[in-house]
Amino acid sequence: MVNVTLTLNGEKTACTVLPDEKLLDTLRRLGRTDVKKGCGEGTCGSCSVLLNGRLVASCIVFTAAADGGEILTAAGLGTADNPHPIQSSFVKAGAVQCGFCTPGMVLAAKALLDVVPEPDVQQIKLALDGNLCRCTGYVKIIDAVQSAARTLAGKDEVPHA
Ligand code: FES
Ligand code: FES
Repeated sequence: MVNVTLTLNGEKTACTVLPDEKLLDTLRRLGRTDVKKGCGEGTCGSCSVLLNGRLVASCIVFTAAADGGEILTAAGLGTADNPHPIQSSFVKAGAVQCGFCTPGMVLAAKALLDVVPEPDVQQIKLALDGNLCRCTGYVKIIDAVQSAARTLAGKDEVPHA
């Protein structure tokens, strides 16, 4: 067994894991059910988290390799009562249907907007390339990311009185 300390959504968290345990399994064991298990082999993006600010598929990261790291999950980004603008944009744009892909999509969008504040559609498609959605057809998800970018840049249109 390996002793690991993670900063999980801002809280220092100590745990003991198997040497070959994957970060996804550790996070879900720690109660982070907002991190979804889909393919389990790094191809669907549902288990995405930000590890030290970088988007990773937690199902293919060894927890031991993340020791000392900072992990952000969708629940750490915002809550139902206090959502992050990206989360609000997904809801407003109708980009959430079953919701299974949404935590990973939102984090992929954050990873993009952190470095490219005003992405074009191609950049958004590229950034979300590793995140699959079986419900929405992606158009509303792209709309949501564009809308979030405008909000974060303070460029929301103010409705005329
Ligand atoms: S569950 Fe990790 S990428 Fe699909
Ligand atoms: S909303 Fe159902 S998988 Fe994307």
